[in-house]
Amino acid sequence: MSEVFKTVPAESMAGSASLDADAVRAAYRRWAGIYDYVFGAVSASARAEAVAAVNRAPGVAVLEVGVGTGLALPLYQSDKRITGIDLSAEMLDRARSRVRQQALANVDQLLELDAEDTGFETGRFDIAVAMFVASVVPHPIKLAAELRRVVRPGGTILFVNHFASESGPVSWVERAMAPASRALGWHPDFAIDRLIAPEDAAGLTARRMRPFGLFRLVSMINPPRVER
Ligand SMILES: C[S@@+](CC[C@H](N)C(=O)[O-])C[C@H]1O[C@@H](n2cnc3c(N)ncnc32)[C@H](O)[C@@H]1O
Repeated sequence: MSEVFKTVPAESMAGSASLDADAVRAAYRRWAGIYDYVFGAVSASARAEAVAAVNRAPGVAVLEVGVGTGLALPLYQSDKRITGIDLSAEMLDRARSRVRQQALANVDQLLELDAEDTGFETGRFDIAVAMFVASVVPHPIKLAAELRRVVRPGGTILFVNHFASESGPVSWVERAMAPASRALGWHPDFAIDRLIAPEDAAGLTARRMRPFGLFRLVSMINPPRVER
């Protein structure tokens, strides 16, 4: 099992304020105007590393879920075709402006859709990437299941996220911040097993990213579909 699973057990989330879709929309309505200034710099290197992994992955059709203000969009190779989705109309407005201003011809669609239930046809994408989204969506396990559905078997699924620390001062801060989840729009004490159950983690790799190992890049090759 990957070292990423040696994290905080899911039960420790019990004290966190839960996020529903309306709370996400409300939080990102507030964040949209300042998101790039507040979060852009600290997340830039992890985002660049994740998009580089997308660019290296086989296939052309890319789904970026929780595309936000579109900070990643200029980083994709021109031969990748990008569909971006997000719950927040205000974040998407910013992404659309970016596409217009930078004439990003490989961005095919930016759609207001729920990443947990996209309505895309099964196996439509070669690659799906969710950057700083897994700890924001209301039901992370549903997000992971939906990405497995819309990515073809053998395709690539990537997550970039902060995952909760096992112990020490950082974990105390994460737990102290957890009740503010609704206002923040994400869960500071998010545990990896809320996203991927250990039994679904075969072939999963995880590596820490800059700055300070704060974020992790989790990647997996989508297994063949098994009816459950
Ligand atoms: C922290 S921002 C990350 C934005 C972008 N990925 C980036 O790298 O800057 C999280 C984004 O996920 C979106 N989001 C949260 N839940 C979602 C859902 N269920 N479906 C689609 N987007 C969602 C939010 O609206 C927000 O734009």
